Amino acid sequence: MKYPARVKIIDVGPRDGLQNEKQPVPAAVKIELVQRLQDAGLKEIEVTSYVSPKWVPQMADNAEVMAGIERRSGVLYSVLTPNLKGFEAAVASKPDEIVVFGAASEAFSQKNINCSIAESIERFAPVVQAAMDAGIAVRGAISCTVGCPYEGEIAPEKVGYVAQLMKGIGVQRVDVADTIGVGTPIKVQKALEAALAHFSIDQVSGHFHDTYGQALSNTLAALEVGVWNFQSSVAGLGGCPYAKGATGNVATEDVVYLLQGMGIETGIDLDKLIDAGQFISDHLGRPTQSRVAKALLTKRAG
Ligand code: HMG
Ligand code: MG
Repeated sequence: MKYPARVKIIDVGPRDGLQNEKQPVPAAVKIELVQRLQDAGLKEIEVTSYVSPKWVPQMADNAEVMAGIERRSGVLYSVLTPNLKGFEAAVASKPDEIVVFGAASEAFSQKNINCSIAESIERFAPVVQAAMDAGIAVRGAISCTVGCPYEGEIAPEKVGYVAQLMKGIGVQRVDVADTIGVGTPIKVQKALEAALAHFSIDQVSGHFHDTYGQALSNTLAALEVGVWNFQSSVAGLGGCPYAKGATGNVATEDVVYLLQGMGIETGIDLDKLIDAGQFISDHLGRPTQSRVAKALLTKRAG
C-alpha cells in the first residue's frame, strides 16, 4: 500500500468546533485559539462563518475574530459563506478562501441552509463568481456523504451529483463530510470516489466526525485512495447544530499522531497542538476529546 508522503490538515476547530457551543465563547479566546493553532504549524485554519446569527449565534462575532487574528504568511484562513449576504460581509474581513456548504441529502440541506440542493447551487453560483472576481479561493463542503440524520444511508451517486454541480459553478475543491460520523471505511471510500469522479486527488478532502469512533479508520481508508487533505478539530471539538447527536470532528491531535506514526509529513508540532487543545478545553471546562492528547498529557504529568 502506497500512502501519500505528506498530508495537509485544515483545523476547523474555531468554526466547526465552536459553532455548537451553547455558551458564547469570547472572540479573544477564538483569536488565541487561532494563534495557537498556527504556532503549532497549522497552515490552514477555518476561522468562522458568515451565517445568520439567529441560526448560529456563536458565529456572530465573525468580523471581530477575523479582525483580531494575526495573519501569518503561508497560512490560509477560510470562512463559511452560505449566500451572497454572507459573502459580502465576509469579504471585508479578507479571507483567503470561502466555503459554500451543501449536502448530499435533501432533508439535511433543508434543515441546515433552508433550501433544496438545487436551490443551494443557485445561491452558491453568484457567491463563487464574486469570490473568483475578488481573487478569493472557493471550497465546497458536502455534508452527509455517507449518512443523514433524517434520510439514513446516502448513496455515493448523491455525492457525485452534488460534486458535479459544485464543479459546474466553479468550486475549486470539495470536502467530503461524514457529518454524523456513521461512515465506515468502504462506504467512505465510495463517497470519496464519487467526488473524485469530478475533482482531482489534490482537490478532495476528508472531513470526518467521530460520533461512532470510526473517523481514524476512515482517515486511513481515505489515505488508501490517495486523499491527502483532511479537516479535523483540535481537541475533537464540535458538532453541527442541525445534526442532532453528532459529536465533534476527529481530533487533530489523533490524526497527527496517526500520520507521524506512519512517517507521513504534516509540518505540525504535536506538543504545541496538544497545548492548543488544552487551552480551549480549559476554557470550555471539559476534558479534551482527543485520545492522543489524554495519553500524552498523562505521560507529561508523570
Ligand atoms: P434563511 O432564513 O433561508 O435566509 O436562512 P433568508 O435569506 O430568508 O434570510 C433570513 C434572515 O437571515 C434575514 O434576517 C437575513 O438578513 C438573515 P432578518 O430579516 O430575519 O433579520 N441572513 C443572514 N444574516 C447573516 N449572514 C448571512 C445571512 N443570510 C441571511 N449569511 C441561511 C438561510 C443559510 C442564512 C441560514 O439557514 C443559516 O444561517 N444557516 C446556518 C447553517 C450553519 O451555519 N450550519 C453549520 C455549518 S455547516 C456544517 O457544520 C457542516 C460542515 O462542517 C460539513 C459537515 O460536517 O457536514 C461544513
Ligand atoms: Mg462538520
